[in-house]
Amino acid sequence: MDPYLSDWLTILLRWLHVVAGIAWIGASFYFIYLDLSLRPPKRREDRQAGVSGEFWAVHGGGFYHSQKYRVAPATLPYPLHWFKWEAYTTWLSGFALFVVLYYANADGFLVDPAVADIGEAAAIAASIGLLALAWVVYDVLCRVLAGREVLLGLAVALFTVAAAYASAQLFSGRAAFIQVGAMLGTMMAGNVFFNIIPAHRELVRAKEEGREPDPTPGIRAKERSVHNNYLTLPVVFAMISNHFPLAYGHARNWLVLLVLMAIGAWVRHFFNLRHQGKTRWSILATAGIALVVLAVVLRPDDGASADGDTEPVAFADVERVIEARCLACHSVDPTDVSSAPGGVTFDTPEEIEAHVDAIRRQAVDSRAMPPGNVTGMTDEERELLGAWIRQGADVSPR
Ligand code: HEC
Repeated sequence: MDPYLSDWLTILLRWLHVVAGIAWIGASFYFIYLDLSLRPPKRREDRQAGVSGEFWAVHGGGFYHSQKYRVAPATLPYPLHWFKWEAYTTWLSGFALFVVLYYANADGFLVDPAVADIGEAAAIAASIGLLALAWVVYDVLCRVLAGREVLLGLAVALFTVAAAYASAQLFSGRAAFIQVGAMLGTMMAGNVFFNIIPAHRELVRAKEEGREPDPTPGIRAKERSVHNNYLTLPVVFAMISNHFPLAYGHARNWLVLLVLMAIGAWVRHFFNLRHQGKTRWSILATAGIALVVLAVVLRPDDGASADGDTEPVAFADVERVIEARCLACHSVDPTDVSSAPGGVTFDTPEEIEAHVDAIRRQAVDSRAMPPGNVTGMTDEERELLGAWIRQGADVSPR
């Protein structure tokens, strides 16, 4: 795809995806909060009308009074607001963005030959296949384990472990994280499309036909909404993870992803208990400890003392590596992209010097750059950059 067109598509799709995602997750947070905060209605006529809970709030210059019916009100209200386009738009824009960024540039972003040299077509097929598999496995688990929420939670967690491990064996680290996020996001959108909205349609249809609605589909839909709520923080982390090579560039990146996702779901649990009036600080404390442990474990070894006996690296050699492996993109006049990514250029010694830490993060401590190793950077070259940085990153010619 033309790089300039691809840049514009990326801007528009990412913007749409983030806005739709905010609307969807915002609605999820709000309705879970509302549901968990419902109190038995004070007025007898509300109870007699089938109201099971009510909620008062003050916001936007006024008081709001929400009521939830045990099943449905006596007559179908009009207009009735649905919440579905947030979810569909998020999934569709996210999938389109995935196509533009990862499928259209599969050799640069989806495939990393050092991980698995499977070729573009096979990688794209595997990615799409895994998205579909995620929905099918999750949906079957929900049906088979209906009503046994703890067992179901464990089964979904196990499946996520398998998905993360498989993705990390198939795709570049960066793509693997997005792939797992997209698989969980597909479960969430599938819940809305195949389960929650049909259940709501059935409620409305029953009212229209004058039948008493069967509460079961609504109860199942509610369970799926709760699953979606627990998946929000894990998925959001996966979707912003391309900024963190320290996580996706790690040798056991799938474990790093799983730990961070688990922490996200655990923190969500804190809020869901708190909304019910049960504040468990121990949850936040254990999440914090887990984060600190992870940070300590992931700390790159800077090996400062190990270089006493290695040859001093000449800056000219460093420049040669950067020119061969980076300048195709990181230059004021790049050949592979329409403009230097992140505005980062390495055309002059000063620019290289200004980005030494970033170079170490992206190309020495991790293999995040070059993306998918498109320019064929060797391990010796990474080691050369690392040794030069440890020796003080001197940019004067020698
Ligand atoms: C094929 C094009 C390409 C090549 C070659 C390439 N990069 Fe990048 N680089 C990118 C893209 C695209 C991004 C933006 C990644 C993102 O969206 O997070 C990026 C981002 C970066 C960043 C982070 C910029 C920021 O926004 O913080 C650094 C640092 C970097 N690259 C260093 C390097 C180094 C060092 C090399 C050579 C060893 C290299 N890159 C080779 C495409 C490339």
